[in-house]
Amino acid sequence: MSVVFDKDRFVTDCLTAARTGQGAHSAVRDIVELAVSTPEAIEAEVRPWSESPMMTIWHRSDELTVLHVVWPPNADLFAHDHNMWAVIGVYRGREDNQFYRHLPDGRIEPHNGKTLLENDVVALGSEVVHSVRNPTRDWTATLHVYGGEFFTTPRTMWSKDTFQPVPLDPELIKANLEATAAKARLADRPGERP
Ligand SMILES: [Fe+2]
Repeated sequence: MSVVFDKDRFVTDCLTAARTGQGAHSAVRDIVELAVSTPEAIEAEVRPWSESPMMTIWHRSDELTVLHVVWPPNADLFAHDHNMWAVIGVYRGREDNQFYRHLPDGRIEPHNGKTLLENDVVALGSEVVHSVRNPTRDWTATLHVYGGEFFTTPRTMWSKDTFQPVPLDPELIKANLEATAAKARLADRPGERP
């Protein structure tokens, strides 16, 4: 029998897990891990990635944010923090995470990295600073769950050139992603993948 992915059920399961106190982060991780283990089931529920908005909000409240996020080919995001725990699962494509260390003067320096491939999940603590790249020529499709209100919580991003902190600007990130997506759509007709 084929597995069915229902995004409302996924959100409800994440919310239930998020209310389990100390174990919330790992409980959500387990749910995301199970979801991304059947990419074809998620694909049946969402639009083709190349036609999708880069970010679709599935749930947003003070306790939890659940997003469907698509990285176009060559996406390269600013380093940023979340100020809340996060779970990221990749169900198609590849996402390279670069992690950073804080320096005393507010700047950051690259520390280590982790590549997420299909079916991979990473659980990030609330202190984590990372940047994300899709170095491939294909679209990457992911599920993101955050342990709080992702959009109104004050956050920081860091300049790519100087590693200096600046207040996070969602519009700049969105514009950057949309520009990358537009280039990718030109190179790869919607619905077709190399
Ligand atoms: Fe992030």
